[in-house]
Amino acid sequence: MTSENRTRVLTGITTTGTPHLGNYVGAIRPTVQASRDLNNDGFYFLADYHALIKCDEPARIQRSTMEIAASWIAAGLDPEKVTFYRQSDIPEIPELTWLLTCVTGKGLLNRAHAYKAAMDKNHEAGKDTDADVTAGLFMYPVLMGADILMFKAHKVPVGRDQIQHIEMARDMASSFNHLYGEHFVLPEAVVEESVALLPGLDGRKMSKSYDNTIPLFAPSAQLRKLIMGILTDSQAPGEPKATEGSALFQIYQAFASAEETAALAKAYAQGIAWGDAKQMLFERIEREVAPMREKYEALIADPAELDRVLLAGADKARRLATPFIRELRHAVGLRPLAVAANKKQASKEDKPALSSFKQYREKDGLFYFKLVSPQGQVLLQSTGFTAPREAGQLIARLQQEGSKALPEIRSQLLAVSTEQEKMVSGELKKIVESNK
Ligand code: TRP
Repeated sequence: MTSENRTRVLTGITTTGTPHLGNYVGAIRPTVQASRDLNNDGFYFLADYHALIKCDEPARIQRSTMEIAASWIAAGLDPEKVTFYRQSDIPEIPELTWLLTCVTGKGLLNRAHAYKAAMDKNHEAGKDTDADVTAGLFMYPVLMGADILMFKAHKVPVGRDQIQHIEMARDMASSFNHLYGEHFVLPEAVVEESVALLPGLDGRKMSKSYDNTIPLFAPSAQLRKLIMGILTDSQAPGEPKATEGSALFQIYQAFASAEETAALAKAYAQGIAWGDAKQMLFERIEREVAPMREKYEALIADPAELDRVLLAGADKARRLATPFIRELRHAVGLRPLAVAANKKQASKEDKPALSSFKQYREKDGLFYFKLVSPQGQVLLQSTGFTAPREAGQLIARLQQEGSKALPEIRSQLLAVSTEQEKMVSGELKKIVESNK
């Protein structure tokens, strides 16, 4: 499989925290698994420009960048097989952000959930609508659009809360393509339905904002201590316990095989003591995490090596980004003055090939035309005409009016199926556009 026909999968991780078990189960583990699929061309990056929107502590940004990079590699992401980089090592990203800013409606950004939530909070507190809202927060979706569109990502695995951002990236791509020709691929959000939502220490969703997390690479003793602190009820040893609604059970399930989970369910029914159940959970997690932890600690101890890996990833990413931004600059008119301002010439290579009309003469002496797709498929076929001019006039009508001309000239065309007719209409529309 060549790199051209693989699916480009891209996702970013904001560098504001320490990876926890919830991140591992919900994002790191499934993403690392998907990155091994040879049909996928993975782009994974540390969204440190995004982190600045949420965090003004330089040391925390730096520490988090290191921890997240080390965690992903320790969990099995192979920087040789994917493109793994730091957003701020790609100067083309902020440049593209500006180009997209200029085609993004302010109204679109007004509707972003995160911005609306900030406004609602201010209203409730009786404050000015935009109190404490930075332009960075407002522009967040555009920066994210640049991340995605720069690398022509097909699929973007994200949490449910990010779907709107992918839709906005599509809007930006469409606006740009409409104005300047087909440059961007329209991305699609992928939300993994089957991935477990991990409860935290207090039973609510494990999340930094609830302060109920278990760090993925806490040292073994600390991991055990945290697990012993998971909220349970006051049922005594020997009393049968319900698995439903038990955070302990749900976390166990996220790490265990079906048989292991069934065994714990049985132990619950038989009244296992909470302390024993917690010990089982600790051992199960430790089994999965310990080998990775060793690698993680080695990476954290060698930040220069992490820098090297990330810069090599940035190099790889820029091999695409640098020529692409050059193309985009040219497309919008940021170009050398000595280059002729010939619109057709400038965008020709960037536009997808169009279907074309072919005129020809058959052995019967009559003149015909057909519409042929770039792949050579015959989409329309005319009947025979005695003069070539007749064929030429019909072609001209189709090129100018598109499918609107079809009903009137149908008698001079061989019949097509409804399915094919749809395709013909689409192709004619593109031809009409290109002649404008
Ligand atoms: N906004 C994403 C989040 O908070 C992180 C992110 C930044 C991202 N840029 C991206 C995700 C591009 C996917 C694609 O989770």
